[in-house]
Amino acid sequence: MRHKSEKPTIRIATVADAGGISDVLAKLVAAGMRKKPSDTAFALSHYVSDPERIRCSVAVASDGDILGFQSLKLATENNPYEVEVGWGVIGTHIKPSAARRGIGRALFKSTLQAAQQKGLPAIDATIGVNNPEGLAYYEAMGFREYRQMEGAVCKVFRVSEV
Ligand SMILES: CC(C)(COP(=O)(O)OP(=O)(O)OC[C@H]1O[C@@H](n2cnc3c(N)ncnc32)[C@H](O)[C@@H]1OP(=O)(O)O)[C@@H](O)C(=O)NCCC(=O)NCCS
Repeated sequence: MRHKSEKPTIRIATVADAGGISDVLAKLVAAGMRKKPSDTAFALSHYVSDPERIRCSVAVASDGDILGFQSLKLATENNPYEVEVGWGVIGTHIKPSAARRGIGRALFKSTLQAAQQKGLPAIDATIGVNNPEGLAYYEAMGFREYRQMEGAVCKVFRVSEV
């Protein structure tokens, strides 16, 4: 089990990672932490190859297992969360067995770098009100609440203020 406690590698996701990303989502569904799709086609279309993708980063264990990923997309007209056009939209998913080991924190370094390179002014995180770990995670990364939606809290990270 030694390899599982080693620091995972953070890198940009490729098409070949879609199966591993799907597995992360499936583990969250199995743990009752997710209700949306988790299949490989969804992982590919929604994260790895999404046309609005800015960067999708994966955390990979030394045995190749994908432990988690973070997606940064560009908010365009009619985006589902009604985020201001031109902002980033972030999503983070870590396998429950790999949570609270600093993987989310490491992934955000990669995401923030991508946001800065893209010149984004801000990043939106929309989090369910009944998701205390998600709310605590984004708060710890420097996101702050700026609006509420039905059943969700929206937090913003001001990239231009870093
Ligand atoms: C929320 C989530 C992304 C956190 O990822 P993670 O890799 O466990 O987070 P990290 O270990 O990097 O934690 C970074 C900081 O966030 C905060 N945090 C993370 N998980 C927390 C928890 N369960 N309770 C309280 N604070 C938490 C802490 O401040 C933590 O720093 P610390 O461990 O030094 O105290 C992960 O649990 C997850 O994928 N959950 C399911 C999906 C989800 O809810 N995504 C986000 C909302 S869309």
